[in-house]
Amino acid sequence: PDTITVQELANRMAEKGADLVKALFKMGMMVTVNQTIDQDTAELLVTEFGHEIKRVSEADVDIRHDEDVDAPEALKPRAPVVTIMGHVDHGKTSLLDALRGANVQAGEAGGITQHIGAYQVKAKDGSVITFLDTPGHEAFTEMRARGANVTDIAILVVAADDGIKPQTIESINHAKAAGVPIIVAINKIDKDGANPQRVRERLLEHEIIVEAMGGDVQDVEVSALKKLNLDKLLDAIALQAEIMELKANPDRNAEGTVVEAKLDKGRGPVATILVRRGTLKVGDVFVCGAESGRVRALIDDQGKQVKSAGPSMPVEVLGLGGVPMAGDTLTVVENEARAREVAAYRQEQALKKRTAQAPVSLEGMFSALA
Ligand code: GTP
Ligand code: MG
Repeated sequence: PDTITVQELANRMAEKGADLVKALFKMGMMVTVNQTIDQDTAELLVTEFGHEIKRVSEADVDIRHDEDVDAPEALKPRAPVVTIMGHVDHGKTSLLDALRGANVQAGEAGGITQHIGAYQVKAKDGSVITFLDTPGHEAFTEMRARGANVTDIAILVVAADDGIKPQTIESINHAKAAGVPIIVAINKIDKDGANPQRVRERLLEHEIIVEAMGGDVQDVEVSALKKLNLDKLLDAIALQAEIMELKANPDRNAEGTVVEAKLDKGRGPVATILVRRGTLKVGDVFVCGAESGRVRALIDDQGKQVKSAGPSMPVEVLGLGGVPMAGDTLTVVENEARAREVAAYRQEQALKKRTAQAPVSLEGMFSALA
């Protein structure tokens, strides 16, 4: 059953909390402003005060991001967000490690830095690139299914000795469906039997026409193992990003996307948030999916505490009320009452949806279990 605190109801009616408490007292109920009352009592109070009862709809309660567009002059350049995709064993993880290693001090490279699902690399020219360290598939299928298209550029890794494989083709299709430009990284060029030209030719069959073949898709021959041409790959990303003119407004309440979330034994619910616009700060009150919270700490991809995080920066956020889902949006709101209201509304909606989708027939139950 729906409940509401006396204060929240007072806020919605634009009445004083104390007046509601008085009215409730007359009705024989001893409550404070912080206590909750049930829906029937709330409705009685509303009519008592001469207000109309309005059924709350999504438009009233939930946050409408689409209606909140930034003015063009508020937009500033932001780092591109890059996902690495490709067939099994073609070197996605090795390439990520190599790119990251190029940025991390030699002494630190022994895996001390914790895994947060996303990290930033600084190119020689000082430009920053954000890499999503989630398997390409999840990043595209799950997050896209939830309406969270965070990737700006896809790196398609193809092993030069193995060529185009089923997951290469799947990756191409995912990137195309998402409308994300591809850069081809032809990997393992150090290996005997490496044939980069064959990769370029075979890509034609999938409508990926690289520059050497007269198209406009950039391709870079690399070796993640021998760390060959990593700078060239970073340059290719920077060039692609420049063409795209990626921008966001850093001077507003933050909005971000959950890349990963977990329940940490010592720290409680922790989410890696990729900030999309605005600047997320310690102390900010927010809604994140169906959870609310207040930012207790922000931790960057180097494991360092930071005070704030701007557009395209990935950060671990501590201070969540529960564990959100990958792809959920985090939105900073004006106060805790608002955060709780939206979170409660979303939890209710999620529950309704689950109830509505519950399998009814035996057949349905089996397929649900399959
Ligand atoms: P999955 O996550 O299983 O899909 O694989 P992956 O694409 O992340 O490949 P991973 O980085 O794990 O590399 C697979 C194997 O290829 C490992 O044994 C790597 O050492 C090797 N490898 C990766 N890059 C190179 C390269 O540039 N040259 C050579 N010779 N081997 C490489
Ligand atoms: Mg891997």
